[in-house]
Amino acid sequence: MEHHSNIVPWQLLTERTGATLRWFGLTDDGRLDLSAVDELITERTKVVSLTWVSNMLGTINPVAEIARRAHQVGALVVVDASQAAPQLAIDLASMPEEERPDLMAFTGHKVVGPTGIGVLWGRRAVLDQLPPFLGGGEMIETVRMERSTFAPIPHKFEAGTPPIVEAVGLGAAVEYLGHLGMDAVHAHEQAITAYALEGLASVPGLTVLGPTDAASRGGAIAFEIEGVHPHDVAQVLDSRGVAVRAGHHCAKPAHARFGVQSSTRMSSYLYTTPAEIDALVDGLEYTRSYFKLG
Ligand SMILES: Cc1ncc(COP(=O)(O)O)c(C=O)c1O
Repeated sequence: MEHHSNIVPWQLLTERTGATLRWFGLTDDGRLDLSAVDELITERTKVVSLTWVSNMLGTINPVAEIARRAHQVGALVVVDASQAAPQLAIDLASMPEEERPDLMAFTGHKVVGPTGIGVLWGRRAVLDQLPPFLGGGEMIETVRMERSTFAPIPHKFEAGTPPIVEAVGLGAAVEYLGHLGMDAVHAHEQAITAYALEGLASVPGLTVLGPTDAASRGGAIAFEIEGVHPHDVAQVLDSRGVAVRAGHHCAKPAHARFGVQSSTRMSSYLYTTPAEIDALVDGLEYTRSYFKLG
């Protein structure tokens, strides 16, 4: 259920190192199939990487449970929190160490911030060990003609002139969310997701991809309508002023698992109102009648 951004880098790494990439399967309701956890996470496992919340299926994954298992075999746990950071009240400091990710990343534009910037959080010992991945100005301790030494974290990872405007914007976004309070944001997201799931369930022929209970998912809800192409659904909704996304949502393997090329996805956030969900559901009813589905 990973976003391509948590697939492709690992593929590039395995090509470089000869490591093998292994996958958890998915259950029919879009959760990680943990039944084979002991065969998948073994003494040979070096890294376990997963998304905290799926951007396609919406599933909230049991990061603590998986991290605990991974740490038992000495593997590093890397978490993509791009969908989790905006909607869950994550408090890494209060997590028991054995359940905490070793590295966690999220992107700026999902936390009402700018594009092209994000956050990498890491356990200090891991970050200290990691070599720089880009070279340039600002990240050095000293540079000689033969070799260079690097500044301590975080600077060794920030080669070149930083994206100053984006960093200021991201800082303001994080402050804004902090001011609203992530508990309040989470409560709103849960309520609006439950309301949306209820509305979508009333549309005949509509199947939600992923869990159908609000408590185990986030507010990105991908669905199919039998007999209408996902892009047609999106176009008809657009004509009624409802913006959704159609496509593979950068999660092609997850779509393949469910035997589809693409899906239509609604996404709610802190500004989404029940009236907007009603407009979506009305739009879907209209779509069905437009395509003469009865
Ligand atoms: C779960 C998830 N991971 C990763 C990303 C990628 O973010 P970016 O393209 O900014 O690196 C996104 C969305 O954009 C996402 O939803």
